[in-house]
Amino acid sequence: MRERPGPTALLDHILGAEVASKLERRIERRVRNSGLLESKSLEAFEWNFQPSLDKALVMELARLDFVRRREDLVITGKSGTGKSHLLKAFGLRACEQGVRVKYARCVDLLDDLHAALADGTYAKRLKAWARPELLIIDDVGLGQLKKQGDEPTAAHTLYNLIDRRHTRASTAVTSNIKLSDWGRYLGDTTLTAAILDRLAMNAIRIDIDGPSYRQHVAQERASRQMRKPTKRKRSKTA
Ligand SMILES: Nc1ncnc2c1ncn2[C@@H]1O[C@H](COP(=O)(O)OP(=O)(O)OP(=O)(O)O)[C@@H](O)[C@H]1O
Ligand SMILES: [Mg+2]
Repeated sequence: MRERPGPTALLDHILGAEVASKLERRIERRVRNSGLLESKSLEAFEWNFQPSLDKALVMELARLDFVRRREDLVITGKSGTGKSHLLKAFGLRACEQGVRVKYARCVDLLDDLHAALADGTYAKRLKAWARPELLIIDDVGLGQLKKQGDEPTAAHTLYNLIDRRHTRASTAVTSNIKLSDWGRYLGDTTLTAAILDRLAMNAIRIDIDGPSYRQHVAQERASRQMRKPTKRKRSKTA
């Protein structure tokens, strides 16, 4: 009332706020549906801790042009080097940019597809996993893959999915085992070669060769505790 805006400015103000809150709700819904349970950001990533990692390349990838180009991304490296952190941050960015994204740990994705085989919904579930513009398959190599009865091997199931997505939609993968060990992990070397032929050979590759941030945090905690005088010690000296 004090500013007495004209009708256009008033409408712009009201509708602008409405659009902003609608957009925010849409992003929230996208994050909820993506399967991303942890929100990680590139702002929280300590680049100095991982000097071998090419920050410029990661920031360029975070613009997600590779998703629009339908290219794949494979990040390898030892445990705790920040592979999942980076892809979770990419996933959130994708949600903010309106990209349809789905995140799953490799074991959970395979469990879902094998359960779908058992209850006759396999075709539907495979289609659902094939649909997102960006599929993040996290932690290939972590967790034991148990094959039950006449269930197909993990390699077979993953091959079906990767084959469907290849050149049609972007898949981003992290792994803490060497690509040459995937065959043993997924249970079929021939099919794994076919997966890698599609996925890794044409993908953008990042290998993080550095220390574990988890170990760094644990060491920091331990040395803080060593430095902290215990109450009993203090009362002794008092
Ligand atoms: N450079 C970093 N700066 C800040 N936090 C980091 C960094 N690297 C890793 N972290 C944090 O350390 C923890 C472990 O990292 P992350 O889960 O990304 O490791 P990973 O490479 O996926 O390991 P794994 O192979 O065991 O899955 C996470 O909480 C992550 O946010
Ligand atoms: Mg990980």
